Amino acid sequence: MEAYTEQLNAKGYIDEAIDPRLDLVEEINKLKKKKNAVILAHYYQEPEIQDIADYIGDSLGLSQQAAKTDASVIVFAGVHFMAETAKILSPTKKVLLPDLKAGCSLSDSCPPHLFAKFKEQYPDHIVITYVNCTAELKALSDIVCTSSNAVQIVESLPKNQKIIFGPDKNLGDYVKRKTGRDLVLWNGACMVHEIFSQEKIGKLKEQYPGAKFIAHPECEEHILSEADYIGSTTGLLKYTIQQDADTFIVATESGIIHQMQKANPGKTFIPAPPNNACACNDCPHMKLNTLEKLYNAMRFELPEIDLPEDVIFRARKPIERMLEISEKLGL
Ligand code: 13P
Ligand code: SF4
Repeated sequence: MEAYTEQLNAKGYIDEAIDPRLDLVEEINKLKKKKNAVILAHYYQEPEIQDIADYIGDSLGLSQQAAKTDASVIVFAGVHFMAETAKILSPTKKVLLPDLKAGCSLSDSCPPHLFAKFKEQYPDHIVITYVNCTAELKALSDIVCTSSNAVQIVESLPKNQKIIFGPDKNLGDYVKRKTGRDLVLWNGACMVHEIFSQEKIGKLKEQYPGAKFIAHPECEEHILSEADYIGSTTGLLKYTIQQDADTFIVATESGIIHQMQKANPGKTFIPAPPNNACACNDCPHMKLNTLEKLYNAMRFELPEIDLPEDVIFRARKPIERMLEISEKLGL
């Protein structure tokens, strides 16, 4: 155990040798049964992880699944804040994250101690935080939201209610435009959604005149203003199924394209091009998880998400508020 603690501190995952003759998919399925485990995966995971998951979804869907699962172990194939959310909603369950270092640049852009000071400047404001933040930040919030319900959560509050929105300034700006509300925004952003080139997207649109351009609301305004559809990862996926177009230019992390292709054989999905030729649409945090790390996490039941009880207690209320509003609205 001590050796594992050292490994987790240094590497963030269990680095135990795996017999190369093993069929990992088969072994993971055996462990799922043996340990009564469920694998929840975000759309930005590697295709081989998505294919072995019991549930694949956006942040809202994953939270809803984490809240209602009767499995004893939740293996979260996603990033740290998502696994924390699962732990907050199911505190008696063991929540495993294949690589503890799978963080999030957006979550990192909002340190809780600085946000607490920011919040003090607006004592008569309600705090809505995007789920892409730490458990400590959620504990400082009144309501959590995801990209699929942020607009509706803001609209569920009285028109004269003053609101702080964080940490994503792009999603916050989008919600401002959609609702006409004047939100006070924290200045955070996602490293993946801020790289897209308007000029190169424009050229692609000329090249594929029938293509639909779809974007995640974490993108900047000048990109969103060009989009035929804006939505969460689940929203984007559904749109590609509902539309007759045969080509889609996709401005979000490229992992979602795996499900788009599976759901739409014959349609073409082009990742929106980044500004810089060296950049790509892969989230380096999401992509830290591998099938091997997931297998070892299930084998050794490590790394496990552990949160102080008082943080779980305080962070749970704003997440539950979001789930209640979403349920009422049928989201
Ligand atoms: P959704 O899956 O909720 O659309 O969020 C995207 C994201 O950036 C997750 O990190
Ligand atoms: Fe965070 Fe952006 Fe990666 Fe999502 S895509 S986990 S917001 S860094």
